[in-house]
Amino acid sequence: MPRILSAKPDSRLIPLPWELPLTEWPTDYLVALPRGISRHVVRFIKVGNDVYAAKEVIEAAAVHEYRMLQELARENTPAVEPLAVITDRRGMGGQPLDPVLVTRHLDFSLPYRSLFSQSVRPDTVNRLLDAMVVLLARLHLIGFLWLDVSLSNILFRRDAGEFAAYLVDAETAELHDVLTRGQREHDLMIAVTNLFGEFSDLEAGQLLDESLDPLTLVDTISARYRDLWAELTGVEEFSGTELDRIESRVRRLNALGFDVAELDITTSPDGSTVRIQPKVVDAGHHTRRLMRLTGLDVEENQARRLLNDLDTFRFRTNQQQLDESLVAHQWLTQSFEPVVTAVPAHLRGKRDAAQIFHEVLDYRWYASQRENREVPMLDAADGYIRDVLEGLPDEAMNSRPLAEGSRQLANPFDPSQGFADEEGAMPDDPWEVDAAEVPEPTGMLDIAALRRAGG
Ligand SMILES: Nc1ncnc2c1ncn2[C@@H]1O[C@H](COP(=O)(O)OP(=O)(O)OP(=O)(O)O)[C@@H](O)[C@H]1O
Ligand SMILES: [Mg+2]
Repeated sequence: MPRILSAKPDSRLIPLPWELPLTEWPTDYLVALPRGISRHVVRFIKVGNDVYAAKEVIEAAAVHEYRMLQELARENTPAVEPLAVITDRRGMGGQPLDPVLVTRHLDFSLPYRSLFSQSVRPDTVNRLLDAMVVLLARLHLIGFLWLDVSLSNILFRRDAGEFAAYLVDAETAELHDVLTRGQREHDLMIAVTNLFGEFSDLEAGQLLDESLDPLTLVDTISARYRDLWAELTGVEEFSGTELDRIESRVRRLNALGFDVAELDITTSPDGSTVRIQPKVVDAGHHTRRLMRLTGLDVEENQARRLLNDLDTFRFRTNQQQLDESLVAHQWLTQSFEPVVTAVPAHLRGKRDAAQIFHEVLDYRWYASQRENREVPMLDAADGYIRDVLEGLPDEAMNSRPLAEGSRQLANPFDPSQGFADEEGAMPDDPWEVDAAEVPEPTGMLDIAALRRAGG
């Protein structure tokens, strides 16, 4: 009998055919979804209405990865959610089989191979880099040394006009109290080496826009990581007459999506110089605020966008003096929910609710400009559903396999094997389809601009 190690046991895992190697599981149990390249056998499995990812890997690695992912969940750091490790597996002939690590499939997420399977705008690549840099900094802030940063080990999700990056592979990771500068630089060096290789592969496969160059891309990552780290943790010294710089620092961190839980402030004995350094910063500034006000749990930039809309709603309904949480409840029931419920059920797998709301806001802005009037939100929702959403491919991907058009995948349950007729080629994926609909981003990690604006 196999053993199941799990903090939250899921009895539906018990009857699965653990006596078979993952490669031999009947297709009834499997779901064909896009996936990154991996050394181990990975399959997406159907468990009731849920989709889980199963990875066959040696015991020590499986248990270690399970524990690391649990730590990340505890620290609220974006990573796939660990569910169980199945050990003591025996094949039909009694031979031992490797354990399986089970994680929850990250809904609405895509591996980079899918993103780059057709030409990706340079601007999109830049936003992917930003998402990656934020993930790495967040991991380092909690003492998490990844040691295997690569595009294949990251999943991306839409986050308003930006992307959010999630860690998917923690096999090599180590957790420390604090990381030294040397450890962080080592992790960054691994990232640069791996990413350079991956970008070069994409370039060789003509999947990288001509204006992009692997070396420049990895240099950008290093520079942005160091900038962000300095902003998050660096010491700032100024004269005692410039105390507003404390507030500016906090505002800049908020704008980057971080809250300051502890700021160390020291003053020289005569009060002429002040020295500040953030000691504890937590990511998720806007996510937490929106959650507190409305209960909605969304990505950071989605939350930023929704909060802006909530502010506008408050202003428009002239309720500035009313308690914010009361207005938030009105906004939720009168603005957010009607838009989300206007989407027919069969189209809901295309985007998550917060992303749809964000895209409707964009759509409304363009429609209002075009028609020279303020288009009501529900009209905008109808127009968006008709003109944009209908035509988009599914992204939830929890029920339907990846659209491959007329071409055959070499193995539909292992898309990383490419197409049957062209080894190595990847199925098309749709993240660029609506490129024209997305307004120019503001460049979330433009720290220099934040400094200029905030003083
Ligand atoms: N929970 C999940 N949700 C979505 N996709 C997942 C999940 N778990 C794994 N995947 C997909 O499977 C791929 C391989 O998983 P993973 O990186 O853990 O395997 P690996 O063999 O350990 O990789 P490596 O070769 O880097 O050691 C990932 O790139 C990702 O696309
Ligand atoms: Mg991997």
